[in-house]
Amino acid sequence: MDRNLALEFVRVTEAAALASARWVGRGEEKPADAAAVDAMRKAFDIIRMDGTVVIGEGERDEAPMLYIGEKVGAKSDDAPSLDIALDPLEGTTICATGGVGSISVIAVAEKGNFLHAPDTYMDKIACGPAARGQIDIDLSPTENIKRVAAALNKPVSDMTVVILNRPRHKELIEEVRRTGARINLIGDGDVSAAVSAAWPDSGIDLLIGIGGAPEGVISAAAMQCLGGDFQGRLKFRNEEEKARAVKMGLKNPEQKFTIDELASGSVMFIATGVTDGPLLRGVRFLSNGQAKTHSIVMRSATGTIRTIEAHHDLGRKPNLMK
Ligand code: FBP
Repeated sequence: MDRNLALEFVRVTEAAALASARWVGRGEEKPADAAAVDAMRKAFDIIRMDGTVVIGEGERDEAPMLYIGEKVGAKSDDAPSLDIALDPLEGTTICATGGVGSISVIAVAEKGNFLHAPDTYMDKIACGPAARGQIDIDLSPTENIKRVAAALNKPVSDMTVVILNRPRHKELIEEVRRTGARINLIGDGDVSAAVSAAWPDSGIDLLIGIGGAPEGVISAAAMQCLGGDFQGRLKFRNEEEKARAVKMGLKNPEQKFTIDELASGSVMFIATGVTDGPLLRGVRFLSNGQAKTHSIVMRSATGTIRTIEAHHDLGRKPNLMK
């Protein structure tokens, strides 16, 4: 995959972040998401690629734009065929409440390298490079915490596990507390949380728990770039969801998915902060129509991680004005 594409893609998440950032704290999730989707959709048009959305805003009949299967990019004869997993606004509630850590994010792979995950839940576990190969979603949280602590050469009491604060995690939280590990309970945004587990000096060692399946694939792509590890298992809310997964081509929808089964080959992960978070600063609207964005761009081929602070003169970019 052409490495220069990574820098092209950052324009896409910047545009979505700038658009949704206008809605920070306004208490309205849908318009915030719609603004991000609209800006992201337009920004894709300038990238020379034959792109297909494989993780997107939903099925064609439920999403007007960036639906699963939608073609994006400025196609030409020699344009690369790419699969795109995207979340124009990851953490819509965070954005609507002006909370911590909403981002705009995309992951890109060569065709056929992302799991086509249905829009359901996924049980997830993620850790950083030092513990790659040590986690196993078939083992108990206690066992996983002990293994990661050993890999990090620190006592379990110095471990921090990030968990989505949900009633479904009551037993998980109790078990993790019994191990003596510390917990960071978050309201939303488990893509940033997964990335934190592999981000040097983030203070997070492990992510455990159930979140969105599409977010799981995007997180696996990030972990491939960072050299961390990730495993997931789909969690269906009903038989209908399971049937849909089978229809989408999953032979054994309840299997454990390793990181390579979720995202493989040469992948890229690109994210821009909407609100301030553990990894990225949110959009700043400055004086005189200027704005500042903060993004990360990562490639699995080389493991290069770039952080990009961009200053935008919105007066000269009419497409980014609203
Ligand atoms: P949205 O941006 O779609 O609102 O997702 C936010 C999020 O917290 C994800 O990070 C997470 O995977 C998922 O929601 C968890 O789902 P739920 O809120 O239903 O528990």
